Amino acid sequence: MCWIFAYNWNKNSIPFLVEGLTNLEYRGYDSAWVFWITKGGKIFLEKAVWKVSNLAGKVELNKNKDKDYNSGIAHTRWATHWGVTEKNTHPHYSSNKRFFVVHNWIIENYAELKKDLIKKWYEFYSETDTEIIAKLIEDLFDWNLIETISKLTQKLVWAYALGIIDTENPDVLIWTKFWSPMILGIDTQACFLSSDINALSQNCKEFFILEDKEIVVLKNWKHKIFSLWKEIFRNSEKITEDFQIATKWDFETFTEKEIYEAPEVLLNCLKWRINFENKTITNETLAELWELDIERIEIIASGSSYFAWVTSSYWFRELAWMPCLVTISSEFLYDTFLPNKKTLYVFISQSGETADVRESVRIVKEKWWITFGLVNVVGSTVARMCDYWLYTHSWIEIWVASTKNIIGQLWVLLLMSLSFGKKRNLQISKIREIIWEIWELNILMKSQLWNTKNIKKLAKKYSKYKNFFFLWRNLLYWTAEECSLKLKELTYLHSECYSTWELKHGPLALVWPDFPCIALNLKWVLKSKTVSNIKEVKARNTTVLWVVTKWDKNEELYDDIIEVPEVSHILAPFIPLIPMWSFAVEIAKELWKDVDKPQNLAKSVTVE
Ligand code: AGP
Ligand code: GLU
Repeated sequence: MCWIFAYNWNKNSIPFLVEGLTNLEYRGYDSAWVFWITKGGKIFLEKAVWKVSNLAGKVELNKNKDKDYNSGIAHTRWATHWGVTEKNTHPHYSSNKRFFVVHNWIIENYAELKKDLIKKWYEFYSETDTEIIAKLIEDLFDWNLIETISKLTQKLVWAYALGIIDTENPDVLIWTKFWSPMILGIDTQACFLSSDINALSQNCKEFFILEDKEIVVLKNWKHKIFSLWKEIFRNSEKITEDFQIATKWDFETFTEKEIYEAPEVLLNCLKWRINFENKTITNETLAELWELDIERIEIIASGSSYFAWVTSSYWFRELAWMPCLVTISSEFLYDTFLPNKKTLYVFISQSGETADVRESVRIVKEKWWITFGLVNVVGSTVARMCDYWLYTHSWIEIWVASTKNIIGQLWVLLLMSLSFGKKRNLQISKIREIIWEIWELNILMKSQLWNTKNIKKLAKKYSKYKNFFFLWRNLLYWTAEECSLKLKELTYLHSECYSTWELKHGPLALVWPDFPCIALNLKWVLKSKTVSNIKEVKARNTTVLWVVTKWDKNEELYDDIIEVPEVSHILAPFIPLIPMWSFAVEIAKELWKDVDKPQNLAKSVTVE
């Protein structure tokens, strides 16, 4: 989704705003703009449709800009409705051009609001709901802008992060929000606002997460927060070392950098939660969950986060003897909700902002059931809505298609299943054995980072195909689905997954010579069964790429091979990830795709 970045300072704002735009352009957008206003009311505005890099160039070339812009706003638009045109880019302004407005998300009652304004002879130059807000402010304005904005928020239905500049008070920025995230960052001589906390971390040390309908007024780099006209006082939160501005280091893309970080995520996500010395679980949140009378788990998520919990459902059954219901968040919203008081509702989201997941949390909380959030972005909405939460501590994740964070999600879910298992008499020796393997897996995954020569060679061969079958058994389902999703996201090629056993019930009809099968066939996951299934596939003269445990080969059954280190059944889902993510990246490079900015995708899907 799009985002807003703004600040109020007494120095030239241009570098900050363009840098803010560039740092977060990965999020997905179709137009961008930068807006400055000086204390004297002089306005500077540059817009660009599509790539923000065009905008940065336009700003640099603009000779009109001078150095005393004290308030600035940058915005990327991801059109929720209407065309991607310059006319529709923000900011939008009132008829008298006194008020300029920038907006994230959607005003659901825009049509009736527009109808009322047209009856009052207001005219519109764009198609957007945002322009309606600008006209509505003008219509409601009664010389007190805070009161006007409070009245405005009573009229708007659904989601917005809203920034307003009054050109007659150019040193003031006013903000309000509902449902769409908005964070206020403060520094010694500056205030920053962003709909994404990652845009703040370099510039400030503490922040406030704004609550719905709160109004923030920034003036001379000081801030005031109002709730229903009254000024309120809240303590700020510290930005911890977890907020790192994403940098590519010496990698060609964020993707490769994040895959490289995956083994470290394991240790970062589990430190303070596992004592590897005495092989015990030390997390206080999990200990609190122990006290609850929980008999079953229901996990709600979407995308890669959705695939992550399928594996965990095996772990909860196998290690904790707990039934684990699996629900896609967008379906959960419209299913019949059968609440169960002994169920822990777990919501998984890297961004913590996915609309379906957030709405699912709200539905569960309305019934007063126990909610647990597993997110990566600290302070994000899902974490703040849930009764309990843990962070995956995967550091900042830029790449639109998530990779390293999934490792963090899986580790926390495995930890939860071990913790619940311990309460249900899972042998301590078994827990210690798995914890020891977790430590070893970090080393094994690191060794996979350097095995790219074979992957690049295979990518050259497989980049000529248009369709792929990922075949799996048992708890490798999620891994196959995740690898298939990455291939789709990065290469735009068709890929689907099926259980090798189920092929003969229909999908085998699809297998033909140029529809290669990628079979995940690891030593401790029904290997012999899979071998016989693959024989059926090979009999159709298709190409088979095996992902197989090292030294466990069947030459006559495969055309190509990716060997992975031997791990136990429980940890098997982790071990194909790095090579298969790299496989998708290398094919995408062969096809000249923009790996960091996959078409049609956004980092955080904040609309339903
Ligand atoms: C992951 O590769 C995709 N980009 C996407 O499926 C993502 O996992 C999904 O949108 C969920 O995002 P979240 O984890 O931030 O909720
Ligand atoms: N609904 C507004 C528009 O279409 C904002 C979209 C966004 O969040 O980028 O302009």
